Amino acid sequence: MKIIPKNPIEIAKMRAAGRVAALTLDAVTPLVRAGISTLELNDFCANFMAQHGAVPATLGYKGYPAASCISVNNVVCHGIPSANEILRDGDILNIDVTALLDGFHGDTSRMYGVGNIAPAAQTLMRTTYAAMMAGIETIHSGSYLSAIGNALGPVAEAKGYGVVREYCGHGLGRKFHEDPQVLHYANTEFATTRLRAGTTLTVEPMINTGTWRTRLHDDGWRVTTADGGLSAQYEHTVLVTETGYELLTASPAGYTQWPYA
Ligand code: MF3
Ligand code: CO
Ligand code: CO
Repeated sequence: MKIIPKNPIEIAKMRAAGRVAALTLDAVTPLVRAGISTLELNDFCANFMAQHGAVPATLGYKGYPAASCISVNNVVCHGIPSANEILRDGDILNIDVTALLDGFHGDTSRMYGVGNIAPAAQTLMRTTYAAMMAGIETIHSGSYLSAIGNALGPVAEAKGYGVVREYCGHGLGRKFHEDPQVLHYANTEFATTRLRAGTTLTVEPMINTGTWRTRLHDDGWRVTTADGGLSAQYEHTVLVTETGYELLTASPAGYTQWPYA
């Protein structure tokens, strides 16, 4: 595994890319209502990124066909937006966008609720956000890569939730996915790998109400929970600093977790 920290010029570009991705999720927020299709949300995000000089990095990535991933209810990740998928009262969804700006990637996702959300779904979303932040809080120059999952996983497991294992966070920069691999569950795989200032990576836990096991849909992309339970995810692009971390995809509107109003 080769983790290469960014130089100050590259970090400035990562900040700019992360900002466009976060602005996109800010801007789409008021559109998330009953009756809209996930394709309409996707197209809004695509246009917004284009207006800000960015390219949606998911479009064409390994053949992925859309400018965003929109994952509703029991969909864990990589939901392909569709005109036939109309949001209904009580749905929860994740919108994941990756902006490619001036050669660098900013990758972020948030949860949204439609109308009245069941208490169990609200607790899942809040716990997923808290778990992500617990993982991120471990990060500083010299911290261990494994510390992220060691802090994050137990926050979810304490509630009886399953932490998805097949999909991980990742380094990113000029490439969409690069070293290191960021595990979201307690692990010893990276117990000797230290993070250094200037490294950029994502923390993006997928947390399920039931089993951590997943199933890949026959469209080749959509991943659902194996038991049909709900799944939630938040994602930030994070810069490792000398004293801690910087969220490169912090919301300019000040949004953190759903509900945003
Ligand atoms: N944005 C996702 C991530 O957080 C990756 C989507 S890959 C795609 O890493 F091919 F599905 F677009
Ligand atoms: Co990511
Ligand atoms: Co993402």
